[in-house]
Amino acid sequence: MNALSELRSRFEKVLSELTSDPAPFVGMIKPTQDATFGDFQANCAMPLAKQRGTNPRSLAAEIVSKLAVSDLCHPPEVAGPGFINIRLKEDWLTERINAVVADPRLGVELAAKPKRVVIDYSAPNVAKPMHVGHLRSTVLGNALYRVFKFCGHQVVGDNHIGDWGTQFGMILFGYKNLLDAAAFQSNAVGELARLYRLVSQLSTYHDSKAELPIAETRRSQLETELKAAEATKAPNDKQAEKALKKLRTDVAEILDQIKTLNKQIETVESSQVLKALADAHPQIAELARLETAKLHARDEENTRLWNQFVPQCLAAIQGIYDRLDIQFDMTHGESYYNPLLAIVVEEMQKNGLAVESDKAICVFIPGNAAPFLIRKSDGAFTYATTDLATIRYRVKELNADTMIYVVDTRQSEHFRLLFETARLWGYGDRQFVHVNFGTILGKDNKPYKTRSGDTVGLESLLDAAVAKARQIVNENDDRKKDDAGNPTPELDDATRAVVAETVGIGAIKYADLRHNRESDYVYDEDKMLATTGDTATYMQYAYARVCGIFRKGSINRETLRQGAGQIRFTHPSERALSLQLLRFSEALDGVLSEFRPNILTDYLFATANSFSTFYQECSVLKEPDEATRTSRLLLCDLTARVIAVGLDLLGIKTCEQM
Ligand code: ARG
Repeated sequence: MNALSELRSRFEKVLSELTSDPAPFVGMIKPTQDATFGDFQANCAMPLAKQRGTNPRSLAAEIVSKLAVSDLCHPPEVAGPGFINIRLKEDWLTERINAVVADPRLGVELAAKPKRVVIDYSAPNVAKPMHVGHLRSTVLGNALYRVFKFCGHQVVGDNHIGDWGTQFGMILFGYKNLLDAAAFQSNAVGELARLYRLVSQLSTYHDSKAELPIAETRRSQLETELKAAEATKAPNDKQAEKALKKLRTDVAEILDQIKTLNKQIETVESSQVLKALADAHPQIAELARLETAKLHARDEENTRLWNQFVPQCLAAIQGIYDRLDIQFDMTHGESYYNPLLAIVVEEMQKNGLAVESDKAICVFIPGNAAPFLIRKSDGAFTYATTDLATIRYRVKELNADTMIYVVDTRQSEHFRLLFETARLWGYGDRQFVHVNFGTILGKDNKPYKTRSGDTVGLESLLDAAVAKARQIVNENDDRKKDDAGNPTPELDDATRAVVAETVGIGAIKYADLRHNRESDYVYDEDKMLATTGDTATYMQYAYARVCGIFRKGSINRETLRQGAGQIRFTHPSERALSLQLLRFSEALDGVLSEFRPNILTDYLFATANSFSTFYQECSVLKEPDEATRTSRLLLCDLTARVIAVGLDLLGIKTCEQM
């Protein structure tokens, strides 16, 4: 047990005598922000005193007097209006930190009650190449997967790929009508991707042509309304001011929309080839939908083509997963559940959960205006139907007790209704979590696109980061000199390439993980590859620096660990670093209880900083006292292990030398 959970459980004993629900108060015991107040602080006396109508300071004193913590910390102090400050005992700390040195799991215990967790992540629609939009689910989901597994839970990583949707109709239509056979011969997936883009571009063109006059009418209506409102508005009329403001944003929005529509039309009309294709296929959107419907109805030709395309698309995507070091335990795409959909709808109708409404089948959830549509009026099943069938499979076949969906915030409403429906359906005893996340933005603060307005392909994103990392690695290695000032580069070309890949990919992953997942963030290659600051690069260099210490001193880390030496405190920064290293399991607890990998990145950054202070203030190899030198080497070794394991749990690799 780590210090925080140990303290919390001691507090719980006392607090449960004072309140029937101690949990929220126990949660108020936290590491201090400022070390001058001690190591931990409990702020629970104030709210609890309020609840009980007593004096907070004397309540704090009462809690302290009942607390049995003398083995663990110095007598707790009551400060200010009723804060309880706690400082761990040196004996306890050194005993713990030396136990961690000998522990391959670095003080992280396996879960006492392992859960069966299914994590649904990445899940691209495979008819098109992976793009920047797939990065977050893939990286966040994989980090959660790794942490759950490390903590002893039984985890199933499932890539719920989109292999059954309208996109396949588009490539089926494209293949039959617009194929460049030679291109398909030489690069099938590239040609399928081109077909997808082409069909979607032509469909959008026709949609935009139809949409434009409607938008123009709406614009002139709104502009007329706005003029009238401006003319009649009396000064200081708050109500009218509000209405005016609303009208102005409406006008701005419609103008924006018209601009987008015009741009989409122009892209096609400015190219003779595209314009001719658009004219030749005026019904393209409808025809592509028909191809999807035929596929779903098991049409022979479409099924044959689908069976040919899916493995090709998956192979291309696998290349990205290999490079990102992402694994799944299963890849059951949407198509896998197709045979179950009719059964699910029938069952839900039978037990009265789903009803017919305007020829469609819906679930009406009490307290929700929007119904959950599980069969459309034309008989087609929906994304929702598939997700319901998936839940049933995950409960019945995989015996999942927790189901985690790492999916964009824009799908929040879908998951809210899905989880509600699942509860009504009888899965109320399971835990469902939507681990939602925001968008990756470009430097213009808009969703990240290429200059031509396309989404950025993931492959080219990785290539660019690795190329930039290569420059950094080159410069860094070229700068190395011996004491006489002669250049001493250490890395050959092949090693530099490996290091650049590790640094480039690590930078992208870390930049994604370190943000609060709900926030949007700006994709900035320079920032994410900075060698100082909260980046993977900084952490990777910190790791390599420690490895360098051992190389320089010709010290074998295993032998050191197995020797008789112990960590002991001779300087405050040694104590501070030890305490920080002991908090590794607290950080992992935080990741799992909040589904937030950024708790681990914060922890690792703080650890690297704590190490940096220690290394500035304490000599290591040059320390004359042997016991102190060994103690410090053990601290260096443990720091490197915590950083390497921590980064690995985020899916980020390290290099011994860089
Ligand atoms: N393929 C979907 C998309 O790209 C994401 C699927 C997420 N998982 C799920 N079970 N719905 O939007």
